[in-house]
Amino acid sequence: MKRLRIKSVEVILEHAERKRLKKQLGVMDLLLLGIGCTIGTGIFVLTGVGAGMAGPGLTISFIVAGLACGFAAFAYAELAAMVPVSGSAYTYSYAVLGEAAAWLVGWNLILEYAISASAVAAGWSGYASGILEQAGFGLPASLTTATRNGGIMDLPAVVICLVVTALLVIGTRESAWVNRLLVAVKLAVLGLFVLLTVPNIEVGNWQPFLPFGWFQRVGYGENVGVFAAAAIIFFAYIGFDAVSTAAEETHNPNRDLPIGLLGSLLICTVIYIVVVLAATGALNYTELGESKEPLALVLRTIGFPGVASVLAIGAITGITTVLLVLIYGQTRIFFVMSRDGLLPEFFSRLHPRFHTPHVVTMLTGLVIAFIAGVLPLSELAALSNIGTLFAFIAVAFGVMILRITQPDRHRPFRCPWVWFTGTSAILSCAALMWFLPTETWVRFLVWSLIGMVIYAFYGYRRSPLKVHS
Ligand code: ALA
Repeated sequence: MKRLRIKSVEVILEHAERKRLKKQLGVMDLLLLGIGCTIGTGIFVLTGVGAGMAGPGLTISFIVAGLACGFAAFAYAELAAMVPVSGSAYTYSYAVLGEAAAWLVGWNLILEYAISASAVAAGWSGYASGILEQAGFGLPASLTTATRNGGIMDLPAVVICLVVTALLVIGTRESAWVNRLLVAVKLAVLGLFVLLTVPNIEVGNWQPFLPFGWFQRVGYGENVGVFAAAAIIFFAYIGFDAVSTAAEETHNPNRDLPIGLLGSLLICTVIYIVVVLAATGALNYTELGESKEPLALVLRTIGFPGVASVLAIGAITGITTVLLVLIYGQTRIFFVMSRDGLLPEFFSRLHPRFHTPHVVTMLTGLVIAFIAGVLPLSELAALSNIGTLFAFIAVAFGVMILRITQPDRHRPFRCPWVWFTGTSAILSCAALMWFLPTETWVRFLVWSLIGMVIYAFYGYRRSPLKVHS
């Protein structure tokens, strides 16, 4: 235990007590946080990519990815209720697997939160640029294209990251209020989409249902089929687990956290399945696969161009809520890592008036904005997925190990059939990782290696646990 530098649950709770975040969130806030963070670029933009990879079978891809998340959600719920402290998978790993593993998980959570925030901002920019262009204020292509794809930078992506960062510095309450409004808009446009699309479904579009089968490799590391699409559109589910990062700011974490986590995942899964069935039924998958704004394209094709523009505006507002929660989640994870001494102390400094970790929020926002301006959506999305799946696996391991090492600890929420659920989470997440492109794997391994070097030369020496171990 000493060698692993495990931090007991008591110590974690006690450390959190010394530098507390304000308790101000209830169950409704958590549900909205989950939905707000989850429904975004994935359903609005990547549905097209997914349809191109799996045809109408994309519906099954969404079910497969949703199931993997469901297993992981139960594990998250047990740990989040038991250790209601900010930091999510990072904090739980610290309590179970030890400091080095926790650092590696925290390091990969940067892929889940910061990198996917950049990806989401890139998706936002696509819709925003389209709307500006239709209104006659189109920006030159060099200012809407990522540097890596030959542009100067993706300016709208940078701007939205900075705006959201400013909101978060002002404080969670204000941000949660804005989040609430934007979630309502997002759900309304998706509801409208389904209402208008369902009467226009042509059953012929669902045949063949699996044009690319379950899984095929078609080039160097390039995959198609239901499972390959599941590994990509998994991105649409990233974020429901952000609910657990708000544990420390929740009034009644024991009850509210499991409801927030499982509830938001269930709601999102149902919405995704209905939207994808409607989209692939109304428009042939080959056309969907070509589009960067697939849902708007469906509406235009079935004769509702005006509603398509409304949907585009709804998509932009919806995607903004995702950004809000992702940047929020990242700052809270950095905050906790700094509180633990694995990152410099100034990361966890709180603003005297707003009570928010303003220094880390501003730093994180600037880096996310920079990456969003420089790298394209597709590369960012695949990388976020692999980092997130890694964190899910660590949490599933954690919940099972803790059942063995601390069987008698009070568990306000118990993961049902823990051995079955935990093992299923690990296997399904590992399988989704396996279905990702080879290039993504290479990047993931290099990123993890860099993380381990930083830990060896900084975190390992600076950690307060050094004194005890
Ligand atoms: N799940 C989030 C989205 O779809 C990241 O945009």
